Amino acid sequence: METGVSRGAIFLQGAHVTEFQPAGQQPVLWMSSSSWLEEGKPIRGGVPICFPWFGPHPTDPSQPGHGNARLLPWEVSGAARLSDGGVGLELRADLSPLQALFRVGFGRSLTMELTVELPVCSPPAPVRYEEAFHTYFSVGDIHQVSVEGLEKFDYVDTVGGRTEKKADGKPLRFASETDLIYQQTIGRCVIVDPALQRRILVDRAGSQSTVVWNPWIAKSIRMPDFGDHEWPGMMCLETANVGSSAVVLNPGQVHVLRTGISTAPLPKQN
Ligand code: BG6
Repeated sequence: METGVSRGAIFLQGAHVTEFQPAGQQPVLWMSSSSWLEEGKPIRGGVPICFPWFGPHPTDPSQPGHGNARLLPWEVSGAARLSDGGVGLELRADLSPLQALFRVGFGRSLTMELTVELPVCSPPAPVRYEEAFHTYFSVGDIHQVSVEGLEKFDYVDTVGGRTEKKADGKPLRFASETDLIYQQTIGRCVIVDPALQRRILVDRAGSQSTVVWNPWIAKSIRMPDFGDHEWPGMMCLETANVGSSAVVLNPGQVHVLRTGISTAPLPKQN
């Protein structure tokens, strides 16, 4: 859709945002040209909503990776004009016993909110779940990109196993396959992209975890729905609650995960 202040697109399957482009700017989200766009298959790019689990299912390997919410049809339950001239949409999904409500705003910035409720009528037992806005960002050249805002947090490097690594105080850079999970992260992350001369500002709330991913060469080739040469133009920075930061709701409780994504020009270097 064209809102006047941005262009956006969303699929009902998974309440999956596939496009966001502020007026007069480059696209912010990345989509693979090899993505499946078929019912029941995950979409590669945009913003998959991973829910109610992240990665493989904890006990049942026959279940889809990153949860079944991204494969289900969500139902549109509302639409409204935003104060900046953009358009907001509201979609719902029943993942019993959890009830999910997704709000997206295609304004000058992209805002996303996932509200999850465990209704009181459920059996009186807590329910644990994981969630992520698995956002694929479009970048000019991954070799030049850095990410600011994570430098003071320890992390787990999941490439080829699980290695705990200490914060080194430096912005994150990419030089090989990257698959990192940060916990207890707070504050804004900034993707600095010299090739596109812009910064992408990622604000979040209700999120403890941040996942950063680029498959690099070999993993891109192994994935049938990811072009072999597309990896230098993307990176995922995921606003999440996963692993030790999974959410636990008691009946009657609600949790909200939020992110706001905007862009700013990169000041020219002298
Ligand atoms: C990332 C994970 O979040 O998603 C990676 O950290 C994974 O390990 C990637 O490969 C893509 O997952 P999928 O299920 O969409 O291929």
